[in-house]
Amino acid sequence: MTESIGQEFMRRTCYAELSDSPEELGIVPQPPLELPLPQGVTGIALPDPAEIQVPALELRTAIAERRTLRKYSEAALTLDELAYLLWATQGVKKVTSRPVTLRTVPSAGARHAFETYLLVNRVEGLTPGLYRYLAIENQIGRLPAPENINELLTEASLQQSQVATSAVTFFWAAVVDRMFWRYVERGYRYLLLDAGHVCENLALAAEQLSCGICPIAAYDDEKANRTLGLDGKSQFVIYVASMGKKIQ
Ligand SMILES: Cc1cc2nc3c(=O)[nH]c(=O)nc-3n(C[C@H](O)[C@H](O)[C@H](O)COP(=O)(O)O)c2cc1C
Repeated sequence: MTESIGQEFMRRTCYAELSDSPEELGIVPQPPLELPLPQGVTGIALPDPAEIQVPALELRTAIAERRTLRKYSEAALTLDELAYLLWATQGVKKVTSRPVTLRTVPSAGARHAFETYLLVNRVEGLTPGLYRYLAIENQIGRLPAPENINELLTEASLQQSQVATSAVTFFWAAVVDRMFWRYVERGYRYLLLDAGHVCENLALAAEQLSCGICPIAAYDDEKANRTLGLDGKSQFVIYVASMGKKIQ
């Protein structure tokens, strides 16, 4: 029987199949821990996560109550709430001397190979548009984007209306080099695994804020990457999640 692409991927990403990594070969330095904002984009400081007040919620309750939510109230998030969700999903707790970032989510080899893009529709104090999180600096930057960015990203998400009506939709992009440098082809597995942790933290933290999320993997890769300015090879959208306040 011929081997399927999926079967081939699993076989060829077994340890025995892997070539020496750029790290082992010592020819390429470790890629940067995060991507800078594009030239001309100024970072907007976010509230300090340690200072943000959120309602107490037992972890057991958050786990029990979490369910995928595709319809949201029209209420906006506060900037504190957005900052809290960014901290819960990618917040940097420490930059070590190696250097690597230690964050609120685990990551294979602490590679933390994601950048977070945000389609902001309703957040107090933010102009709707496209933003990116700078995890180390705890800032966001508004990226140049067409006026109909909501429409474009909804279309890229196969017209799933929960993107259009979300308060915010998270688009996580993988920066392949950051993972590949240590794990070569096997790193693609780890990117996929890492993404799951990030989205689950979003789901649980959202519960605390009376919000719900919809994890989204049904999107048009080409359109999503093009709209975010990613080449689809060295960087690509790996996971999406829409979110907003629950309808009371
Ligand atoms: C990897 C993954 C991809 C998903 N993609 C979509 C999607 O594109 N659109 C959607 O409406 N729901 C999507 N979902 C949500 C699932 O449909 C949902 O988790 C499932 O029906 C179970 O419901 P629950 O989350 O409320 O427990 C996705 C969930 C996961 C984990």
